[in-house]
Amino acid sequence: MLRVENLNMRFGGLQAVRDCSFEIEAGTITGLIGPNGAGKTTTFNMIVGELKPTSGRIVFEGEDIAGLPAYKLFHKGIVRTFQIPHEFGQMTVLENLMVVPPDQPGERLFVNWIARAKVAARERQVRQRAEEALEFLSISHLRDELAGNLSGGQKKLLELGRTMMTDARLVLLDEPGAGVNPTLLLKIRDMISELHRERGYTFCLIEHDMDLISSLCDPVIVLAEGCVLTQGKMEDVRRDPEVLDAYLGGGEDE
Ligand SMILES: Nc1ncnc2c1ncn2[C@@H]1O[C@H](COP(=O)(O)OP(=O)(O)O)[C@@H](O)[C@H]1O
Ligand SMILES: [Mg+2]
Repeated sequence: MLRVENLNMRFGGLQAVRDCSFEIEAGTITGLIGPNGAGKTTTFNMIVGELKPTSGRIVFEGEDIAGLPAYKLFHKGIVRTFQIPHEFGQMTVLENLMVVPPDQPGERLFVNWIARAKVAARERQVRQRAEEALEFLSISHLRDELAGNLSGGQKKLLELGRTMMTDARLVLLDEPGAGVNPTLLLKIRDMISELHRERGYTFCLIEHDMDLISSLCDPVIVLAEGCVLTQGKMEDVRRDPEVLDAYLGGGEDE
C-alpha cells in the first residue's frame, strides 16, 4: 500500500531520517518502534504531508506522494493522530468530530443559501456519524463537554474518533498509548483491532508499550538513528541483540 524509498530528512545539521526504506502492506497493523529520537514521528510527518522530505520517495498505491500537502493526502485516505492530542479545546467533543469531514457544503456561503435542504441533510449525516463514533468509543456521555476538559486518555479516544469521521484507509497512530491509564489502554487496543477488522483500516502505529505492539502488530519495523535497523515479527525482533543495543545504547528508559 505504501512504500518509503531512501527517505531522508535533515534539520540543519541533524539528519533525523537517513536512507530509510520500508513498506506498509495493505491490511496489516504495522508497528514502528525504536528509541526516542529515532525519527519515527518525523517519518510519520513526511508520510502525511506535514514535512517535505529532503530526498527520497513515498509511494502510496503506485503514486509518489512525497511533498504533497496534508489535505490532499487526507482526501486519498491517509490520516494520522498525534502523540500529543490536537483537540479544539473550546469546542465540545461532538463538535470536534463534526468539523473533521472535508467539503461540508455549509462552509460555502452560496451553496448554503441556494441549497439549504442539502446542507441540512449533510449536517444530519455528519452528526449521526459523530454520534456513532462516540458510541463506539463509549464516550457518548462526554458529547457536550469541552474537549479541553477531557483527561489525557479521553483526548486519545477523541483522536481515534476523528479518524472515524473520514473515509480513512491508512491510519497512522503516534503513540496512542502515551499517558493513558492501563484500563483505557486495553480499550484503545480493542478499538484499533475492531477498526482494523470491521472497517478494513490499514494501521501503522508508533508505540513504546511493547505489550500493545506485541498484541496488535505484525510486522514490526525498528528504527534507530533514522535508519531501519530490522523488521519482522515482534517475538523475533525483541530477541535481536541489535535491537536491545539500540534501546540500551541510547540510554533511554523504554
Ligand atoms: N522540527 C524539527 N526541527 C529540528 N529537529 C527536529 C525536528 N523534529 C524532530 N527533530 C529531531 O529529529 C530527531 C528525530 O525526532 P523524532 O522523529 O521526533 O523521533 P521519535 O519520534 O522517534 O522519538 C530528534 O533528534 C529530534 O530532536
Ligand atoms: Mg515521536
